[in-house]
Amino acid sequence: MDKPLPNIIYLDNAATSWPKPAGVAQAVADFINYLGANPGRSGHRLSTAAAELVYDTRSLLAEMFGAEDPLRVVFCKNVTEALNTVLRGLLRPGDHVVTGSLEHNSVMRPLRALERQGVELTAVPASPAGLFRPSDFERALRPNTRLIVLNHASNVVGTLAPVREVGQIAREHGVWLAVDAAQTAGVYPIHMPADNIDILCFTGHKGLLGPQGTGGFILGERVPDDAIEPLTRGGTGSRSEEEHQPDFLPDRFESGTLNAAGIAGLKAGLEFLRREGIAKVRAHEVALTRRLLDGLRAIAGVQIYGTRDPAYQVAVVSFNIAGMYPSEAALALDEEFGIMCRVGLHCAPAAHRTIGTFPQGTIRFSPGYFNTPAEIDQALEAVEALARRAHTPTYQVVNRERSVYDDRENR
Ligand code: ALA
Repeated sequence: MDKPLPNIIYLDNAATSWPKPAGVAQAVADFINYLGANPGRSGHRLSTAAAELVYDTRSLLAEMFGAEDPLRVVFCKNVTEALNTVLRGLLRPGDHVVTGSLEHNSVMRPLRALERQGVELTAVPASPAGLFRPSDFERALRPNTRLIVLNHASNVVGTLAPVREVGQIAREHGVWLAVDAAQTAGVYPIHMPADNIDILCFTGHKGLLGPQGTGGFILGERVPDDAIEPLTRGGTGSRSEEEHQPDFLPDRFESGTLNAAGIAGLKAGLEFLRREGIAKVRAHEVALTRRLLDGLRAIAGVQIYGTRDPAYQVAVVSFNIAGMYPSEAALALDEEFGIMCRVGLHCAPAAHRTIGTFPQGTIRFSPGYFNTPAEIDQALEAVEALARRAHTPTYQVVNRERSVYDDRENR
């Protein structure tokens, strides 16, 4: 597809942000067309320029998240790889790790695998609205607790976790806090030292407005350079005479050629955000979320999940339409109304168990910085039309017959 679909409303920014600022695609193309070289490998001018571009991107990330040293910014291909590196590289059999009950599978699956290898795991429950009590994290700590890993904002209901308070508890008990900022980086203010975050895992293609295939983690000053074992080892362009992996950052973790073209695009996304300011992005998304929540509340037959208060969440809203499967709603939203959203379990079964929507899941609208109030209103009209349809007697009969059939299929 070389042109965007006409008349679509993109409400799937929690999966990946779109559209990107104009400079992002240009920066990727410029890198490929004019720079192209392998950063930090060869001494020639193009390679040096590529290395500078990568370093400048580290600096922008460090500045955005209050990290002092750009060399403590490590690039990975996405937040999942960052989380796997941190969790698998840090936790050993006999360690205890604490997490929350709203985690995405990018945290839960590595943790469940580690559990099989002898790592002890506690998942602190959130309320059905997705809220945590910080004191529950303190109660969960044990003498062998090594790490708390916490989703900053749920990708299902958008609820923000009390990261600063949990980080304070972690500090008092000599435990590190790793934060999964997949849904907050770029759309919500994050300052690692002030928020008591020791390890920040981010993705480049959501709120940071960069291309897919970019992401990473930032190590705070409390975490020693050698605390985490690398997931991969190989060429780094440094200490080539050594057959052992360099132990300094970021080379300890960055083996093989980086996605420099993607990083060039990420740099353009970060520069856009620096010009706009995170506060402006947040204010726009709060306004859109409020409009969406108010509108959904007014539609008969719609159940909304989460806090239903934009002050306590990012722009991620989950809901269901009574009498209609989420998958059926999504198909109609796409094909009849041009609305792109995500339904089902959103790779976060633990979160859906917490809010009571497992296994059917929810319909999720996740507006972004480039959505307008008018688009939210159009999306609300579409939901209202579907809610009315779900109440018509013909629809209910068809639906009942299908659910009997589905039940048989599932036996
Ligand atoms: N984790 C992303 C989502 O929630 C992909 O859609």
